[in-house]
Amino acid sequence: MCGIVGYIGHREAYPIILKGLQRLEYRGYDSAGVALYHDGKINVSKTKGKVDDLRKKVESSGNMEGHLGLGHTRWATHGVPNDTNSHPHYSNSGDLVIIHNGIIENYESIKKALIARGYVFHTDTDTEVLVNLIEEVRDKEEVKLGKAVQIALNQVVGAYAIAVFDKNKPDEIVVAKLGSPLAIGIGENEYFVASDASPFIEYTNNAVYLEDEEMAIIRLGKEIKLRKIKDDAIAYPNILELQLNLEEIEKGGYEHFMLKEIYEQPRAILDTYRGRLLADKGLVKMAGIDQNLEKFLNANRIIIVACGTSWHAGLVAEYIFEDLARIPVEVEYASEFRYRNPVITENDVLIAISQSGETADTLAAIKLAKEKGAFVFGVCNVVGSSIARETHAGAYTHAGPEIGVASTKAFTTQITVLTLLALKLASEKGIFSASQFHEILAELENIPGKVEEALKSNNLVAHIADIYKDSTNCLYLGRGYNFPVALEGALKLKEISYIHAEGYPAAEMKHGPIALIDEQMPVVVIATKKGHYEKVVSNIQEINS
Ligand code: BG6
Repeated sequence: MCGIVGYIGHREAYPIILKGLQRLEYRGYDSAGVALYHDGKINVSKTKGKVDDLRKKVESSGNMEGHLGLGHTRWATHGVPNDTNSHPHYSNSGDLVIIHNGIIENYESIKKALIARGYVFHTDTDTEVLVNLIEEVRDKEEVKLGKAVQIALNQVVGAYAIAVFDKNKPDEIVVAKLGSPLAIGIGENEYFVASDASPFIEYTNNAVYLEDEEMAIIRLGKEIKLRKIKDDAIAYPNILELQLNLEEIEKGGYEHFMLKEIYEQPRAILDTYRGRLLADKGLVKMAGIDQNLEKFLNANRIIIVACGTSWHAGLVAEYIFEDLARIPVEVEYASEFRYRNPVITENDVLIAISQSGETADTLAAIKLAKEKGAFVFGVCNVVGSSIARETHAGAYTHAGPEIGVASTKAFTTQITVLTLLALKLASEKGIFSASQFHEILAELENIPGKVEEALKSNNLVAHIADIYKDSTNCLYLGRGYNFPVALEGALKLKEISYIHAEGYPAAEMKHGPIALIDEQMPVVVIATKKGHYEKVVSNIQEINS
């Protein structure tokens, strides 16, 4: 996830873009940049760090003038967060500038082809590939920018919200969307472009939200032209009158960031397996594993280290790895592991899981395992974080920034990555037949839709919360995969509601904790159809009686 802002009109663009980026910083905060058109030149400033670091850089350069500009706040997906990889990116000729939120999955093959045709790349990003592809189309086909963007986008696979301009046509911005949000604010002879309406809400209430596979040509003094990217059909802008205030917009209309992040799960899971889960080909593709397959396949065991919610994801992974890939797994609290002189050998693989990639105990556990010669693999959300740098290899979750302190979408995306990893190893070991494998992959593709369905139970959840809000204790029970889920549920209740809660394997209830059960004790049981359902129902009967 990243934040994008653009402006074209009669005002100075820089103050609008800067304020817009500050408001969009929740969408990405590892680097930021701005491109301003002034006097026939494009001045680009970009930096690793926060929007405020960008402000200092731009203000010390003195390049703040211009009535046309693009800005970006980044959450890295391709290439570490540094000044060079920050957006905006420009084409080889320096004519075109682009900002992009999303992932171009087939950028490597396009990049190779462009290099063969003489293009040079200065960054590790997929976005620089896209802007050069647009330039190549523009020059080869001798078409206008809008057409070039359309032709180029028909060659890419992935997700995007982009804004591009050409310094030879400084009265125009071209935008397009697939999978990432893009809003256009319509003012009096001025236009705004942004990931949400927060950067322009004080200038105009009139906005158009692009639909997937739509693009728009925004030209000063003209009405917006909307087109379908695939078939060039004309689309008609649905201009909305926004009623939201600024705070509501930043949180996407949700009361809290945590709630927003819970609702982001279908998108976050999809982004995490995008380009990796190729169900139609019966393949799982993950660069970090493909290059280190032997390490995993020859491992004596896998040791998973993590803290908090990430540790719970590790427990789920233990079941998945053993079940699908038949590799023995141990799961350790990083804080215990690092202090207890563990037995680690060169034939062990250590997987470190961390949303932030900065948790000190997890980092220390990694260093210890490396000293003892183990191969260390990271599963992190923050690109370029300490854990991502310290591990030998890894796979990112693409959950986007998690602002809520209590982890939510990080958990489900960690499980997504770990499931893909287990499946990859299972397929290498030939554990499943091609058709079984295919069936599992196809089923996995349905997960975002199922999460979406589950989220529809919100009203029921609110009703139940109302009944139990004054409880002082609560038990969460589950068996198999659902035992770690019970632990995670209990952790969330403790941290967010200040209600004491415990997670337990459902069958362990009878060995002591059942003594605590009375009319005052709510018990949440996770009883999915495939999670030893009949046995869990017997546990429920015990509790009832
Ligand atoms: C805790 C958070 O402080 O850190 C948890 O409250 C989180 O939600 C834990 O799971 C570990 O963090 P990370 O970034 O290593 O996954």
